[in-house]
Amino acid sequence: MDRESSQLIRGLEGVVAAPTQLCDLDGTHGRLAYRGYDITDLARHASFEEVAHLLWHGDLPTGGELDRTTVALIAARDIPRELVETFRLTPKDTDPMRALQTAVAILGMRDPDATDNSHAANLRKAVRLTSQIATAICAHHRVRSGQSPIPAAPDLGHAANFLYMLTGRRPSTVTAKAFDASLTLYAEHELNASTFTTRVIVSTQSDMHSAVAGGVGALKGPLHGGAGEAVMRTLMEIGEVAHVDAFAERALAEKRRLMGFGHRVYKAGDPRAAILRGMAEEACRQSGQFKWYEMAVKLHARINAAKGLIPNVDFYSAPLFYSLGIPVDLFTPVIAAGRIAGWTANILEQHDDNRLIRPRGEYVGPKRRAFVSVDKRA
Ligand code: CMC
Repeated sequence: MDRESSQLIRGLEGVVAAPTQLCDLDGTHGRLAYRGYDITDLARHASFEEVAHLLWHGDLPTGGELDRTTVALIAARDIPRELVETFRLTPKDTDPMRALQTAVAILGMRDPDATDNSHAANLRKAVRLTSQIATAICAHHRVRSGQSPIPAAPDLGHAANFLYMLTGRRPSTVTAKAFDASLTLYAEHELNASTFTTRVIVSTQSDMHSAVAGGVGALKGPLHGGAGEAVMRTLMEIGEVAHVDAFAERALAEKRRLMGFGHRVYKAGDPRAAILRGMAEEACRQSGQFKWYEMAVKLHARINAAKGLIPNVDFYSAPLFYSLGIPVDLFTPVIAAGRIAGWTANILEQHDDNRLIRPRGEYVGPKRRAFVSVDKRA
């Protein structure tokens, strides 16, 4: 590329890469809405099924539409037996995100619409993937723990059924609602790294399963969805509320990157973190593990005062998920179980109005050199 015409923007910061009707993210004022509905209203009053329907179809469902979406999601919960067999054959210590990525690829091999990129087929696959990913995460966890997968409970909603398939226990209404709201808060977030990945993949006219497998790979990293797990490991490293100050001093002196803090777009505050903070407080109190919430609040205050960094969505979700009984290395798969609604909605949007995503690189290597044959190289 000509140096004169090069406009290198590292990390594509601030670059607007696609029109979208899905997510309205106001980083300056810390506001977030899905298709015009404020995230706070959706988290409080809508179920994950309603939010998924909203993202896929454009409007909140009527009662009848919600029934149909709910029935379709329930009907799609089963996963192929080969997938469970694959989990049995994988090493017990396989990272659950790697297992999930494999699961998505295998689900693609068995999906009747796998290579059909039409809107109708994409909608069917969005429903199937949303349900099957939840089942696959839970089945993998059970198998690696030496237990059998738990069949889905048809009378439970998506969030409650997830917790049931994971633990074998029916969650209380309060627990199910907290988990359901978490899935909603993670469902969509504009062109974050994993969603952008899914859009890049389908912009080549590749298919939904290929794109979602790529999205899982991008979400896994600790600068993205992997941060939640890292936050919990940080809290465990600190151990006690009384140790927070000493930890913060050390981390600041070492210029350590603190997981769960900072955001590329939100500078004043991440609205999801504020909602999750309240949910974490409640869940930690209910579960008798209030110290994780207290530690998080103290660390938040200390880091914010020292560096002005804001907690992002992954900060308070860590003590929340932990107190809901979710194993720490399943935090990122759980985020995927929410984000699948947004990934698939973005894939629908990209396929429906596609242009190949193909940016340029700025060449900074050696200038043109004369070729030297191998026998003459020093
Ligand atoms: N801890 C310590 N310093 C930080 C942090 C942090 N978490 N985040 C930003 N900074 C500092 C950074 O050191 C830099 O300082 P200086 O200008 O003095 O060198 C400045 O803030 C700008 O940082 P940056 O890395 O250039 O900013 P970015 O927009 O590329 O980073 C981020 C965004 C999310 C990658 C970063 O804040 C980070 O690494 N956070 C920790 C990981 C994390 O929590 N990720 C989840 C992100 S939100 C949810 C999601 O995407 O799934």
